[in-house]
Amino acid sequence: MSHEKQWWWPLALEEALGSEPLAVQLLGQPLVLWRDADGQPVLMTDRCPHRGAKLSLGSVQAGTLECPYHGWRFDSAGHCVSIPALPSFKPPATHKACRHPVMAQHGLLWGTLGEAAFAPPALVGLPERRLIYGPFDVATSAPRAVENFLDTAHFAYVHRGWLGEATHPEVPHYDVTHTADGRPVIESYKAWQPRATASSAEGGWVTYRYEVLSPYSALLSKQPDDGGPQDSYTIWACPDTEDSCRLWFAQYTSDNTSSDDTLRDFQIAIFAQDQPVLESQSPKRLPLSGGEVMSAADRLSAAYRRYLQQCGIGFGVC
Ligand code: FES
Ligand SMILES: [Fe+2]
Repeated sequence: MSHEKQWWWPLALEEALGSEPLAVQLLGQPLVLWRDADGQPVLMTDRCPHRGAKLSLGSVQAGTLECPYHGWRFDSAGHCVSIPALPSFKPPATHKACRHPVMAQHGLLWGTLGEAAFAPPALVGLPERRLIYGPFDVATSAPRAVENFLDTAHFAYVHRGWLGEATHPEVPHYDVTHTADGRPVIESYKAWQPRATASSAEGGWVTYRYEVLSPYSALLSKQPDDGGPQDSYTIWACPDTEDSCRLWFAQYTSDNTSSDDTLRDFQIAIFAQDQPVLESQSPKRLPLSGGEVMSAADRLSAAYRRYLQQCGIGFGVC
C-alpha cells in the first residue's frame, strides 16, 4: 500500500454535499460522495461495478445511490440492493460498489483510500470564529501549494504592499524545530508587513508561527505586535492528481468586527497573487531528489521536503 493511502485527505466542504451525489478526485482516483438516509456521508469509487458508468451522474434515491445507466441501487455499505431489470432478483454480495472511509472534520469531509493509520490533523487553541475559503483548483501539485504556504521569502514580491515590501525583502534568521512526530515547526518568525490582515490600517511587525500538520496541510498563526487580532490559517490540500490539487484555506480569527465578506475578499486577493506564480513553477511535482537550489532563507521548505521523504510520500513529488 502506498504511503499516501494511510492518510486522510480533505475532499469537499461539508456543506457542499447536499442531496445530490458529488464527484471528487483523490490520488488520481475518481470518487463519489453522497449522503445516506441518515444524512451520513458515504464515499465510493466513482465507477459502477456493473458496466463502469460514473455513479456521480446518478442520483440519491431512498437512501441509496442509483446508477445513471441501468438504475442499479447501492446502499451505504456499497451492496447492490436493487436491479430494476430483474425485479425479483436478489443481488449477491459480489455485486458491490467499492466503498472508502469518510469522516467530517474542521468543516470538511475527509476520505482515505486505505487503512488510514493517521487521524486528520488536530487543531487546538485557535480562535473560535472560523471561515473557510475555497475550493481553489490549482494546476500544481499539492506539496508545491503547501510549500508556498510555508514560504516567507516571497512576501516582498508576490504580496508586495500587502504581506511584504520591496524595501524589506530580507528573511530574518529563524529556527526550525520538530514536533515529537517529526513535523517541522517555526515557533517564532518576525516579519514587517504593510497590510497584514483585512483590518490593518497601516504597517507593523507581526509574529508568525508555522506548523506542518500533515504531508499536505499546514497551520500558520500570526499575531500583530501591536496587539491586533490573532489570525490562524490552515491550508488543506487535496491531491487530486500528481499535477493538480484542490485547496481550502480556513481562517480562525479573533477579529470579531470585520465582516465575513471583508475577511474573504482579503484572503481571495492574497491567493489570487499566489496562484499564477504557483502554476508557473516547473516541474509541477515538488522535487525531493534535487534539481532546485536552496538558500538559508528556505530552511522551512527544506525541512518540509525532508518530512515528506520521511513520510514516504511519492505522489506529487519527483
Ligand atoms: S452500469 Fe451501473 S447499473 Fe449498469
Ligand atoms: Fe503567498
